Amino acid sequence: MIHIAPSVLSADFGRINEESAAVGEAGADWLHLDVMDGRFVPNLTFGPPVVARLIKPDGLVFDAHLMVLEPDHLVEAFAKAGVHRLTVHVEAATHLHRTLAHIRECGMKSGVALNPSTPLAAIEWVLDSVDLVLIMSVNPGFGGQSYIPQTTRKIAALAEILRGRGLDLPIQVDGGINVGTIGEAASAGATVFVAGTAIFGEADYGAAIEKLRAGAAAGQKPVLRELG
Ligand code: DX5
Ligand code: ZN
Repeated sequence: MIHIAPSVLSADFGRINEESAAVGEAGADWLHLDVMDGRFVPNLTFGPPVVARLIKPDGLVFDAHLMVLEPDHLVEAFAKAGVHRLTVHVEAATHLHRTLAHIRECGMKSGVALNPSTPLAAIEWVLDSVDLVLIMSVNPGFGGQSYIPQTTRKIAALAEILRGRGLDLPIQVDGGINVGTIGEAASAGATVFVAGTAIFGEADYGAAIEKLRAGAAAGQKPVLRELG
């Protein structure tokens, strides 16, 4: 199953409700909400009060990616704001296991995100208590960056670990995803694709989402080349 998640970071924040409705109608599966605190990452975006005021189009999954230090304090507020999925960074949570349990207790699906330099071993002991793993394919903080090529092997290595442990967790990839990169991320085992620039930077959101979906589907077919 392929899920396309437009990142509102690249949307027009002044028309955020229209933009989210537009991508929902254009075939998006999830709406990716990048929450930044100006500390974990050098940028600031929005928090629970803004998300609470967003119109929630039917069927559109609200997927919040917290790039904030000590995210525990915000878990309940995001649940109340109507978020369905909440992902925290392994580098930012001191008591990650507890934070992930708290996310589930609040009725949301839990996710854990890894920066490009963070080894997969950092999540070894929480894989049984999480609903999604987000592999960052750029250093978080900004949209419009280029996909880091080593990400593909990292996704493949994670997929292998999950297979070995009999875990059926979705792998999400975020950063620099476009028609040129989505295929290789998909071939490695990613199934949830965040895209900011590649969707909100295009005039026709529906066509952009369709192209990404087709690129991911093509990548899922067996590849004949080595991943390097
Ligand atoms: C980066 C964010 C991404 C960002 C992706 O810190 O987590 O979600 O919006 O933007 P693009 O797709 O433009 O790389
Ligand atoms: Zn993100």
